[in-house]
Amino acid sequence: MRVLVTGGAGFIGSNLVDRMLLEGHEVVAVDDLSTGSRDNLTQAAEHDAFRLRELDIRDPALIGLAAELQPEVIVHLAAQISVRKSVMDPVHDARINVEGTASVLTAAREGSTRKVVFASSVAVYGRPATIPVPSDAATDPRSPYAASKLSGETYLATFRALYGLEYTTLVLSNVYGPRQSPEGEAGVVAIFTDGLLSGTPTVLYGDGTQTRDYVYVDDVVDGFVKASGQAGNGMRFNLGTGLQTTDRRLHALIADAADAPDKPGFAQPRLGDLPAMAVDPVPAFEGLGWQPRTDLSTGLRATVEWARGRRR
Ligand SMILES: NC(=O)c1ccc[n+]([C@@H]2O[C@H](COP(=O)([O-])OP(=O)(O)OC[C@H]3O[C@@H](n4cnc5c(N)ncnc54)[C@H](O)[C@@H]3O)[C@@H](O)[C@H]2O)c1
Repeated sequence: MRVLVTGGAGFIGSNLVDRMLLEGHEVVAVDDLSTGSRDNLTQAAEHDAFRLRELDIRDPALIGLAAELQPEVIVHLAAQISVRKSVMDPVHDARINVEGTASVLTAAREGSTRKVVFASSVAVYGRPATIPVPSDAATDPRSPYAASKLSGETYLATFRALYGLEYTTLVLSNVYGPRQSPEGEAGVVAIFTDGLLSGTPTVLYGDGTQTRDYVYVDDVVDGFVKASGQAGNGMRFNLGTGLQTTDRRLHALIADAADAPDKPGFAQPRLGDLPAMAVDPVPAFEGLGWQPRTDLSTGLRATVEWARGRRR
């Protein structure tokens, strides 16, 4: 099938592009390269079945592109991904994440697309009452980023009701793996990996007991592939492991993989940081046939190896 991946030059997007090409699909990545890069697509660029269109998802040219390509599936990953930046500039966040999503859905309609698969975030759950958070838990967006992701989810339901455009929303926990950028602020794994490999100080905010649910990028990509089929129409699923890992343990595991001393510094907790997070992935087992398969130490070793290779 022909697949259009918005944000295809990014961390998750480029890993998805490679997997889709491997499965024999024709793939068009749409990306403005604001945080993504052509380097992420070196492998993909060798395929005849791959094209990159450097384009802002809000550009009206996206609609013409979709009308011309008629992609069967659009995986919508392009986004402003920083919670902190969304707090500093909610208008910019809304322009990319709300206006951008409306633009992608309009393009899907013009392109007679069967289905849109959307990346939402656990940020939509705010401070959840239950951990692991069930996928039908009440949403409670506490940042403009969370509000814009929830708005994206609502737009999907609206376009389905209006035009019968199918969708699946995947609510991602903390994704890590090769190609995640340490320059960004979303990826603590990438930041620790970079610090531990380069010998620059690493810092834990708080006492190190804060927890997150780390899920490996290949597993997340597998979720997007499964959701691109017929399963999960009109539904949302959590993609995570259900397991909580403390910041302190994460640091120790990465230090071990990097052969570096496990001696982080400690700083004051950051305002608004959640003490704990993990999501319940069981409905995704049942609805998509999806399971996270990569245990944390294996995934971290692969991530450190990739980062090592990049430094050479
Ligand atoms: N990485 C995570 O842990 C995580 C967790 C929850 C949700 N998500 C979501 O998954 C998606 C992918 O995230 P990622 O971690 O790969 O981030 P990323 O920044 O690596 O990828 C986003 C891509 O979108 C592109 N982009 C941004 N604005 C654009 C625009 N206006 N037009 C065209 N392209 C644009 C960027 O250049 C980049 O290549 C995002 O929607 C993000 O909100 C990620």
